[in-house]
Amino acid sequence: MNPENQSRRAWLRNSAFSLGALSLVPTGIFAREQKYVPHSFNFKWSSGSPLKEYLIDDKKDVVVSRLNANENPYGPSAKALQAFQAEMKTGNRYSWRTLYDLMGMIAEKEGVTTKQIMMGPGSSDLLEKVGMLSFVHSGNIVTGDPCYMSMIHVSKAMGGEWRPVRLTADFQHDLKAMEDAIDSETKLVYITNPNNPTGSATDAKALYDFCDRVSQKVPVFVDEAYIELSKNGIADSMAPLVAKGRNVFVSRTFSKIHGMAGLRIGYMIGSEKSIETISEITRGGMGITGPSIMAAIASMKDTAFLEDCKDKISKAKDYTVDYLKANGFDPIPSETNFVIFPIEMEPKKFLESMTSKGIGVRAFNYWDKDWCRVSIGTMDEMKKFTNAITEVLL
Ligand SMILES: Cc1ncc(COP(=O)(O)O)c(C=O)c1O
Repeated sequence: MNPENQSRRAWLRNSAFSLGALSLVPTGIFAREQKYVPHSFNFKWSSGSPLKEYLIDDKKDVVVSRLNANENPYGPSAKALQAFQAEMKTGNRYSWRTLYDLMGMIAEKEGVTTKQIMMGPGSSDLLEKVGMLSFVHSGNIVTGDPCYMSMIHVSKAMGGEWRPVRLTADFQHDLKAMEDAIDSETKLVYITNPNNPTGSATDAKALYDFCDRVSQKVPVFVDEAYIELSKNGIADSMAPLVAKGRNVFVSRTFSKIHGMAGLRIGYMIGSEKSIETISEITRGGMGITGPSIMAAIASMKDTAFLEDCKDKISKAKDYTVDYLKANGFDPIPSETNFVIFPIEMEPKKFLESMTSKGIGVRAFNYWDKDWCRVSIGTMDEMKKFTNAITEVLL
């Protein structure tokens, strides 16, 4: 088949959004083949959110160092910027040709076909779409606690029940307890690895076995926004399970290691059937601009830039963790570009004090503790952060 015709057809299919199509969504659209009877079910579910997040308005010019959104201070790469600018002149056209080129590169990297990929303007877009479509007819979502909330907010708004399962004492997903939490109403299991807001990673072998087994009963969504920054990098990805034919979704983003958060580009891979189902209802790649696509292609090729980012982030993270430990704080071991640690100050007051010193960080409350999460910026920014912490907390 002519790849151009094929890509055009895929593009048109991705664009086929209609209310008529929505009404055809069957219960649990990524449904398991057979009904799953849990081997034990002895949990009590909290109906409210166990995770409280504190935000401060950083839109004004008060924050000098933005360490509150896990961004990469070094991106985009010079090559990505060049490609972005060069593509601006084609802004009068839809970008399906170049999108298809990018999907081809991703397919090769992940060992899947382009039919197993869905693109989106950031991976949040894809998390939200899967959350929306999975819970059209209610059901429950089993996740770690605490976890990244995008998917949870949408799932709950659609009528889904959230079943958070507390992480283990060493901040890994409690895979046994998560499996126990699955019942016949479970539509999705959602795992962020490495996790946000804890930054911790779950053992890759144990997670692989869990996904391999559980996805034969319920779809498992693994959010790998930070995987490139982890110790073993994408060697720990669950993507091979998609190639193996399991009912697993894996999402990735250009917002972190590629330093392209503002250019909005992400993707998810999943079974051909699931990607086809979701693409029939919602648009995926149509939300991404042509210049962002070209920047992503250039960035994927710029491996020296990506390695340099990982190296600089790792050094600045080591500096930050050493400072925290030396000053009596207890940071959770992080395999991401952020670090979280308990604080003994009311979170709002803490954020206001840090902001008044020009430092933007995030504060959370979970497990009956208050926490500060700081994203890893440049070494200079981390020195400003540690100075501010000394003044505010010590
Ligand atoms: C775990 C996780 N998943 C997904 C996202 C969304 O990233 P984006 O929409 O920029 O791809 C983030 C952003 O911080 C995240 O921490």
